[in-house]
Amino acid sequence: MKDAFGTPQSLLILGGTSDIALATARRMIARRTRTVWLAGRPSPDLENAAVHLRGLGAETHTITFDALGSESHEAILGKVFAEGDIDMVLLAFGVLGDQANDERDPVSAARVAQTNYTGAVSAALVCGRALQAQGHGSLVVLSSVAAERARRSNFIYGSSKAGLDTFTQGLGDALHNTGVHVMLVRPGFVRTSMTTGLTAGPLATTPEAVAVAIELGLRRRSETVWVPGAMRWVMAALRHLPRTVFRRLPL
Ligand SMILES: NC(=O)c1ccc[n+]([C@@H]2O[C@H](COP(=O)([O-])OP(=O)(O)OC[C@H]3O[C@@H](n4cnc5c(N)ncnc54)[C@H](OP(=O)(O)O)[C@@H]3O)[C@@H](O)[C@H]2O)c1
Repeated sequence: MKDAFGTPQSLLILGGTSDIALATARRMIARRTRTVWLAGRPSPDLENAAVHLRGLGAETHTITFDALGSESHEAILGKVFAEGDIDMVLLAFGVLGDQANDERDPVSAARVAQTNYTGAVSAALVCGRALQAQGHGSLVVLSSVAAERARRSNFIYGSSKAGLDTFTQGLGDALHNTGVHVMLVRPGFVRTSMTTGLTAGPLATTPEAVAVAIELGLRRRSETVWVPGAMRWVMAALRHLPRTVFRRLPL
């Protein structure tokens, strides 16, 4: 069960090597979290992440999970929930893709969409139903500011996040008044392995800042969290720009 500050005692991370997710886990463990499940594709990084979190005092398990295997999600995630209540699920998997390459390679583009959108739909439905059966818990979904408006430079990724974002809003409404809290997180540019080598903008932030925002959002039971907060107003302005103007911006 969460404490009075909304900190979960048990945490399930989908995308167990994500820099943002691991920064969040570290922050939660420093508060109260005692059990962490890292779901992800088997790799030394996944095992190293588990060793690291155990060193911080959390009982940490790894479990094989592939976003692209929607048909397996129910069985895999069901096993985690069968072990005990989960107070927070953090849906953190995702791929940025390579826009220029993916425009030439439709199969590769579809993989971005399947990972970020289709995989999230099945995983979130399974987790949402399990949280509902418990009668409590939070589902925190890492969307992106890219979901707000298609940009020439990353519309394949952006459209997959737009689908995820819309889906999560609907799931939040469906689970309203069930005891389950669904929270959308829309970070801007975060310095992680996903963005290594890319040029950071002026509002670029860190995984630790996203973790702080998630913690605050849990405490407030927010439905949407922007990181940094100013991104909300930047995107509100960009969203309303006429397309002819927007198209000419170097975004
Ligand atoms: N960094 C940013 O600027 C930024 C901004 C807004 C939103 N986000 C979102 O935040 C989330 C976390 O990103 P991050 O910055 O922490 O990046 P990251 O460190 O690269 O983490 C991405 C995670 O996704 C996992 N993943 C990719 N494909 C998968 C699959 N088929 N099945 C299971 N897991 C898979 C990766 O696992 P492997 O170790 O197996 O590759 C990794 O754990 C993503 O959804 C991302 O879109 C990031």
